[in-house]
Amino acid sequence: MFDTMTFTKAAGGICGALLVLLLGKWMGEELFHVGGHGEASYVIEVEGGDEVAEVEEVDFATIMASASAEDGAKVFRKCSACHKIVEGENGTGPYLYGVVDREKGAVDGFSYSDALASMEGAWTADNLNGFLEKPSSYAPGTSMSFAGLKKVEERADLIAYLDSLDD
Ligand code: HEC
Repeated sequence: MFDTMTFTKAAGGICGALLVLLLGKWMGEELFHVGGHGEASYVIEVEGGDEVAEVEEVDFATIMASASAEDGAKVFRKCSACHKIVEGENGTGPYLYGVVDREKGAVDGFSYSDALASMEGAWTADNLNGFLEKPSSYAPGTSMSFAGLKKVEERADLIAYLDSLDD
């Protein structure tokens, strides 16, 4: 019925059609993958956002872990005009002996500003870190007129020093 030439042409045609089909399928998959990658990178971004927040928290604990109470004693000179580290002895500010983990605004006989008197919670290392960075933003209206310590290492050293006094 058919000669070799016809058969070859037919086979060639089928092969060509298959090739086009495969190509189409491949291109479709590529397009699909592009969509897939887009989604994947979005998920990674969200995870990245969470990680950044966690890293910051871990960071202060890490900095605290390697803080030097000795260096903190030097940083405390900036506070000593107003604060004493002897229990019960208030100056312009309340005494700071045992202040780490002490309730906020809890020294008897010291008249705190409303800002501090109305604050809840204790002076954990994290809270002191926030307060000492910029007292006027942490406790708006505070009567502690101190600009703040910009360097996180200085704050960590100082907190380590204050914490070392009563243990
Ligand atoms: C110019 C004086 C002054 C300086 C300097 C100063 N403080 Fe104060 N501090 C105060 C006063 C006043 C208060 C009470 C604030 C209030 O009632 O709003 C206070 C409150 C505090 C409290 C809250 C204590 C509590 O019992 O709730 C902490 C903690 C503190 N100071 C730490 C420091 C540290 C650490 C430094 C040094 C980096 C420092 N302060 C420097 C005047 C000062």
